This record gives sequence, structure tokens and C-alpha cells, in this order.
Amino acid sequence: MTRVFSGIKPTGPVQLGNLLGALRRWVADQDDADTVFCVVDLHALTVPQDPAELRTRTLELAQLLLAVGIDPDRSTLFVQSHVVEHSELSWILECTAAFGELRRMTQFKDKSEGADFVSAGLFTYPALMAADILLYDTDEVPVGDDQRQHVELARDLAIRFNHRYGDTFVVPKATFPAAGARVMDLQHPTRKMSKSEESPQGTILVLEPLDQVAKKIKRAVTDAETEVRYDPEAKPGVSNLLSILGACTGDDPAELAGRFTRYGDLKAATADAVVEVLRPIQQRYAELAADPAGTAAVLAKGADKARAVAGPVLERARANLGLLPRT
Ligand code: TRP
Repeated sequence: MTRVFSGIKPTGPVQLGNLLGALRRWVADQDDADTVFCVVDLHALTVPQDPAELRTRTLELAQLLLAVGIDPDRSTLFVQSHVVEHSELSWILECTAAFGELRRMTQFKDKSEGADFVSAGLFTYPALMAADILLYDTDEVPVGDDQRQHVELARDLAIRFNHRYGDTFVVPKATFPAAGARVMDLQHPTRKMSKSEESPQGTILVLEPLDQVAKKIKRAVTDAETEVRYDPEAKPGVSNLLSILGACTGDDPAELAGRFTRYGDLKAATADAVVEVLRPIQQRYAELAADPAGTAAVLAKGADKARAVAGPVLERARANLGLLPRT
């Protein structure tokens, strides 16, 4: 069976774009792949974090993943720092990667430019991400476009290591969500829906009050025309609403356009559809949030399951490298 691995950072509230673009696909992947999902708390440390906040966010993100439908019986769901193998393989891969290769990562360039403190971890982050992926003999990594280069690097490192030290790692490949699942900011529909701090009215959070969700959609920016048509270039606002509605109902956005003659009706239908997607998630989340010990137990079991796969892979790498056996 195909092994799928993906990770998500506990650094901010999850928004509708993450849900429709990535998380719902993770849920669907459970039906036909061996899925491993990780809350990558170590990746959050590349920039300073408030300790109490990091702890809460990590637990809350795990609860949200459970609430959207990640099933710990069918998937391996765990917190990265609970499986120390990630840190150990990360070092080995830092020594496999070339300095120049890490320096070329566009995300590093973007995030370090103009920052007054750039941690060494921000620079070596892709080696940790490669470790996440390679520890599970991963075949496929579902990611957004912004992570394409990092998965390519994981692939290059696996190939290089195998070439130098003998067959050790499965060589992974990135997979990308189908077009249409890309959710844009409601107020600035030519840019991706991302951080709520940057555009609170343009961003829908998965856990925000549902009446507020509906309000934001009804106030979404459209254009001065009146025709409902799917045309992301010429009509980004209207097209974004159509893609969001389509992602919620499973319909094709261009086909949906034909059902509406007024922007107001499209907005109302989109608001209803989003609210109906979010409602059961919020209910389930509230139940999980009321039982943090229950989630902790689920995560402990997930870490055991993860270790059972990661441990032998790391041992393989250690042995091939010539590290003295621990026993
Ligand atoms: N770097 C990814 C992001 O910022 C998160 C991540 C960490 C990840 N490790 C991973 C994604 C492994 C896929 C596979 O979104």
C-alpha cells in the first residue's frame, strides 16, 4: 500500500484554506493509503515561540485534526517531538545536504530576508522535514506549492544517501491538490487565504463562530459587474466564492456559476455550505477539547505506532553510515 506522510505546523489557527486545500485530502487519503500525519512542533521552533502557547497550540491542532476526520485507528497521528528519531535523522541529513543547496531554498530566502534574528534552525529546517518524510519509507507527500522545493530536496537527499551508503531510504515524491481547492483571501482574492493577522476579514478560521463566518462571506469582495461567471483571471472574487462553494459541495465551480444570476445568492449559498462543513467539525472539536487526557492518550499511541516504523529506518541509516551499534 502507498505510504503517505504529511505534516502541519502548530503556529497559528487553522483556516478554511488549510481545511479545503489540504486537510480534507488527508482525510480522503485514509481510504486508500497507509497515512501518517504529524503535528510538527519542532518545525515551529525555527522562530521564537511562547512556551505556553506552543503547548496549547500543539494539543489544539491535534484535536482539530481528529475533529476533521483523521482517524487514529486508520492513520498514524502523532506529535513530532514525541518521536526523537526525527531529531537524530535530521542531523544525519544535515550532513548529507550541501550548504549551497540549503541556501537556495526560496522559503529560507523569503523568511530570513529582513528578519533581525535568523536561527540556524530556519536554515536547516528542510533537513528536518526530509527526516520526517524519509523515516516512514514515504512514497507520497501531499503538500502545497510552497513546499515543492523542500520535498524535492528530501528526494535528492534520499538518492544521495542511497548512492553513498547503499540502499537505505525510499525515494518520496510530492503530490499536489487538484486545482480549485485553492482558497483565496475574501478581501484580496488575488492572494492565498493565509494568516488571519494579516487579513482578519479575508480569512475564515475553522473554529470561529459560525455567524461570523457567514458575515465574512457575505462581505467578500466581488467586482462591479453583475454576471456570475467562473473566471479567476478577470473575476477573482466571484471565482473564489465559486471554488469555495464547489469544494464544499463537490461540484465543479464553472458548472455552479450557471445556477446563480446574482452575487447575493452566490454569497448566501456559499455561506450556508461553509457553515454546514464547519458545524460538525466544531461540535466534534468541542467534545475533544473537553477531554485533553483522551487526546494525550491518542497521541501517545500514535507516537508508539510512529516509532515502530521510524526506529528500524533510523537503525538502517545508522548501520549503513558506520555508526557503532547501540547494543
Ligand atoms: N514544512 C511544512 C510546512 O511548512 C510542514 C512540514 C514539516 C511537512 N514536515 C513535513 C509537510 C513533512 C510535509 C511533510 O507546511
